[in-house]
Amino acid sequence: MGVSVKCSVEHVLYNSAIEYVLQAGQLIRSHLGNKGKIEQKKNAFDLVTEVDRRSEDLLRRKIHKDYPSHWILSEENCGQANAYEMFKNHDSDYGWIIDPIDGTTNFIHGIPYFAISIGVVKDGEPVIGVVFNPVTDELYTARKTFGAYLNGRPIRVGKESTLAEAVIATGFQASDFRSGSRVVQQIDQLAGRSRNIRLFGSASLDLCLLASGRITGFWHDGLNPWDTAAGILILTEAGGKATDKDGNPYRLSHDSLIASNGRIHGELIETIKL
Ligand code: IPD
Ligand code: CA
Ligand code: CA
Repeated sequence: MGVSVKCSVEHVLYNSAIEYVLQAGQLIRSHLGNKGKIEQKKNAFDLVTEVDRRSEDLLRRKIHKDYPSHWILSEENCGQANAYEMFKNHDSDYGWIIDPIDGTTNFIHGIPYFAISIGVVKDGEPVIGVVFNPVTDELYTARKTFGAYLNGRPIRVGKESTLAEAVIATGFQASDFRSGSRVVQQIDQLAGRSRNIRLFGSASLDLCLLASGRITGFWHDGLNPWDTAAGILILTEAGGKATDKDGNPYRLSHDSLIASNGRIHGELIETIKL
């Protein structure tokens, strides 16, 4: 009885999350030719546009109206330092973790690789993940224990078993986009060992590419819960693995993320270890 009640609640939340990302996607699409004001946040590599804020307002309004008792953690509404505290100290079981545009730099430059990401968490663990690229119309979805889907079709991670057959993605946290930074050293260590390396610029979509078998691994330091809450569930529901740099199961509070199809995980961790 308890289980079926819980499933049906989460099924309703899942459908709502899909409805919300599609609506935010429509809003973002209508602003592709007019991005409004662009502002710097922490530094020149960390940007936000008026469209990020509008997408976030739309999502917050919808969630608040439909689920007034649920807590919401969204990128442009709270500082990084207190992000984890916010979702540890909540007074409702369910919380919504939102990135209104993941891949803002791509959005600004007209590169069609950005997404709206919504993760619904229960007791700190993702139970629903929805990531939508409004340009390519790719909608990735997952519910805990119910599998992962791309536009309604089931997805699985790839079967590559060695790093030599694997394309691996990574990205820069704003503070790490400089010569000699940790990620630059890691890229140097991986160079020539994997099939290739990619830096696409949207962590949530990178996790979805991995979940759908198009890349085999991904690592990134300094991501925030809004970058990973949805993508991690989509990945694990597609058969993938997510840990921190030491191989411990990944938590939204962790600073390092290593994600893979599972088969190359150990090799990837060892290769990029500094
Ligand atoms: C960024 C993207 C990017 C990652 C950055 C994130 P944003 O998110 O996910 O791929 O490398 O570290 O900050 O700022 O575009 O929402
Ligand atoms: Ca982001
Ligand atoms: Ca963002």
